This record gives sequence, C-alpha cells and structure tokens, in this order.
Amino acid sequence: MSPDDLKDLVRTIPDFPKAGIQFRDITTLLGHGDGFAASVEWLAQAVEGAEAIAGMEARGFIFGAAVAARLRLPFLPIRKPGKLPCAVIGVDYELEYGLDRLEMDPLAVAEGQKVAIVDDLLATGGTALAATELLRKAGARVEDAAFVIDLPDLGGSGKLTRQEVAVHTLMGFE
Ligand code: PRP
Ligand code: ADE
Repeated sequence: MSPDDLKDLVRTIPDFPKAGIQFRDITTLLGHGDGFAASVEWLAQAVEGAEAIAGMEARGFIFGAAVAARLRLPFLPIRKPGKLPCAVIGVDYELEYGLDRLEMDPLAVAEGQKVAIVDDLLATGGTALAATELLRKAGARVEDAAFVIDLPDLGGSGKLTRQEVAVHTLMGFE
C-alpha cells in the first residue's frame, strides 16, 4: 500500500481531547490488517541498523513492539509515571495538549547500544525528545526515530534533528 493509501486510513476527529486540536486517530489504520502490516514494514525499514527498539506508552507500544518483533530485536517500553516496579529515571515534558512524564528502567539498555525510537505520531516532539534524553541517560546511542504520522506545523522534527536524531515519517498532516 502507498503512503497516500495509508493516510486515507487515518481518521481525523476535530476538537479532541480539547477544542482546536485535530486529533489524528490511528484506530482506523490499526483496524485494517494490510494497512497496519504495511505501516510496520515501513517503520522497520526506516530504523534498519538498530540494535533495539524503544516505544512510548501507549500508542508507541503498538507500533514499537510490532517493529521490534518484525526485526527480532529487543523492545524497550518507555512508560508513563508510576508503572514500573524498579528504580527508574524520569523526564517531564510538554504535550500539544498538556504535561506528562516518561520513565524507564536505566538498566534496560546496554552501554552504547543503538536504540531507535518508534511512535505513532510526532507533534511538538516533546515525547520523543524526552525519550531520547532518557535513553541517552541510560547509555543508549539514539540516532533514529520513526513515526507513522508527522504534524510538521508543530516543529517536532527540527527539535529532534537538532539533537542529532534522524527523523523518518511515513505521512504528514499539515
Ligand atoms: C501522543 C502520541 C505521541 C505524542 C506526540 O501520545 O502517541 O507519543 O502524543 O506528541 P508530542 O510530539 O507533542 O510529544 P499521548 O501522550 O497522547 O499518549 P497515548 O499514547 O497514551 O495516547
Ligand atoms: N498527539 C499529540 N497531538 C496529537 C494529535 N493532533 N492527534 C493525535 N495524537 C496526538
């Protein structure tokens, strides 16, 4: 399936979760078997050379875990606060529609391991930047991040590029 066909499978819901946000909903893409498989395949090719895949809770788990399994690589879950039972490192960050925090087990990464980030969507880049910071604190090399959707007007791509993370996006919504 072409990127345009895959884009047609993403549903847009206005004013969710608050007024003024055009929510790009991947539920409809996930509900299409060929579309989901093609998206995972595209992401897997984008992060070629990675030694592990990190995905951010919750939507990043869907694509990240599928990509990791497709490539037979370890999957590193980066979680919302208070979920991990072990000692954690954490970073607070800003979203398009609020504030949040990500945490991970600092021992989950081997020193110098090349970890690629996979998520459904890149908006302000706050989530992916926080994940990059966390992974690097834990000793990872983070050089690639792949997303199904980019919202280029929100500037996330430039933020990641400035931190020397190459950004790969399957489709964009202006
Ligand atoms: C969404 C999305 C990305 C993030 C992108 O997650 O899945 O992770 O926002 O926004 P940003 O580039 O501005 O940081 P959200 O925090 O809404 O959580 P969810 O996956 O649990 O729905
Ligand atoms: N995460 C941040 N901004 C979003 C948007 N506009 N649609 C879906 N997920 C998002």
